Amino acid sequence: MATKNFIPLCILLIYQTVAESSNLQPSNPSDWSPSISSIPYPSSLHGIQAAYWPSFNEISPSSIDTKYFTHILYAFLLPEIGTYKLDITPIDQTKISEFVDALRTRNPPVKTLLSIGGGGSDPAVFSNMASTKHTREIFINSTVEVARKFGFDGVDLDWEFPANDQDMSNLALLFKEWSIALHNEAKINRRSRLLLTAAVYYASKFTVYGGLRSYPARAINKYMDWVSPMCFDYHGSWENFTGVNAALYDPKSNISTNYGIRSWIQAGVPPEKLVMGLPLYGRTWKLKDPNVNGIGAPAVGVGPGDGSSGTMDYYQILDFNNGTRATVVFDRLSVSYYSYVGDSWIGYDDVRSIQKKIRFARTWGLRGYFFWALGKDKDWTLSIQASNTWRHQWP
Ligand SMILES: *[C@@H]1O[C@H](CO)[C@@H](O)[C@H](O)[C@H]1NC(C)=O
Ligand SMILES: *[C@@H]1O[C@H](CO)[C@@H](O)[C@H](O)[C@H]1NC(C)=O
Ligand SMILES: *[C@@H]1O[C@H](CO)[C@@H](O)[C@H](O)[C@H]1NC(C)=O
Ligand SMILES: *[C@@H]1O[C@H](CO)[C@@H](O)[C@H](O)[C@H]1NC(C)=O
Repeated sequence: MATKNFIPLCILLIYQTVAESSNLQPSNPSDWSPSISSIPYPSSLHGIQAAYWPSFNEISPSSIDTKYFTHILYAFLLPEIGTYKLDITPIDQTKISEFVDALRTRNPPVKTLLSIGGGGSDPAVFSNMASTKHTREIFINSTVEVARKFGFDGVDLDWEFPANDQDMSNLALLFKEWSIALHNEAKINRRSRLLLTAAVYYASKFTVYGGLRSYPARAINKYMDWVSPMCFDYHGSWENFTGVNAALYDPKSNISTNYGIRSWIQAGVPPEKLVMGLPLYGRTWKLKDPNVNGIGAPAVGVGPGDGSSGTMDYYQILDFNNGTRATVVFDRLSVSYYSYVGDSWIGYDDVRSIQKKIRFARTWGLRGYFFWALGKDKDWTLSIQASNTWRHQWP
């Protein structure tokens, strides 16, 4: 997850190399549109409309409008270095209680998941935890204990990212043992089983530190309720040219949601186990020349908004665009928006791109979508758009 508005270095490495590394052939999106009738989509399955709630931001859990969501994820707890049990500070404890209490009795009801990790967490802790049966067991037991203690409906892993083949095979073991533990716990205590999900990279394989890594598709398929590809952070101010945050299509590279989702399906994870990520934030640049202001224009660093991360929340983007009378462009090719004024440039999603992405998710028969993150929308605008499109696409 983009997390505390911080992008780890490894993302950069990944993005520089992913385009050359995968075995998928790029193709015209239209070649790949499956025929709608060929996709089984049980009408009884409502689908997943999820959002992460960052515990470090401002929005109070009681103000979440549950009409637009089916699942809300608490972001994040971390395993303690050395013990691999979840680390819960007194502040976490207060926030978790506030979160679960506020959401447990809502109408319409939502399910709550406890998410562990995030983009700001240290991948080495997960790598070490997953490396032995004993440490996996301690970790798994701790997640079950904490989830039950506070009344969550499930647990979610956000390890960014497994970095080598060993990590990937340990991840498969972790998923297997976690799933078995959750089934056993439910049986012994005669309770409904905790859900097991994970946030994953936008594509099923990627190159990092010079090697190609593939997620364990078979284990995901067998043991996970679903996984959530993070279909965003495709371009940012770490590059010296402007780009969109979450292109649906990119004819010039493999860094797009179309490519990523297809790579997951091709790897063998069925669409009904995929919940597609959508960003409620954009990424900003400072243009080198205000008169050269399209996608791919030369840039010289971070633009308006959060200067340390180069991100801006959706509601802030709307305020900025209005306040500065910025020029707003909808780019049909990438299905994204960008705006510019003076030397400021922002790439982001708005109503129309969200609508088209949800249609894409429906067309491919995906299980649902999730947002990063609550608190970044403008009066629920994009949450409503996504929910309406999702529910009305095939009544
Ligand atoms: C984990 O939980 C299981 C089931 O309660 C228990 O049998 C096992 O001893 C626990 N393992 C550790 C390392 O705590
Ligand atoms: C952008 O960065 C690349 C490599 O980091 C460099 O080769 C290129 O000259 C830079 N372009 C500009 C316009 O600064
Ligand atoms: C996408 O990946 C394929 C397979 O490695 C590669 O042949 C192709 O050049 C990539 N496409 C782009 C536009 O980088
Ligand atoms: C746009 O800005 C104007 C003045 O700066 C303000 O009066 C108006 O309420 C703003 N509109 C929106 C939709 O924020």
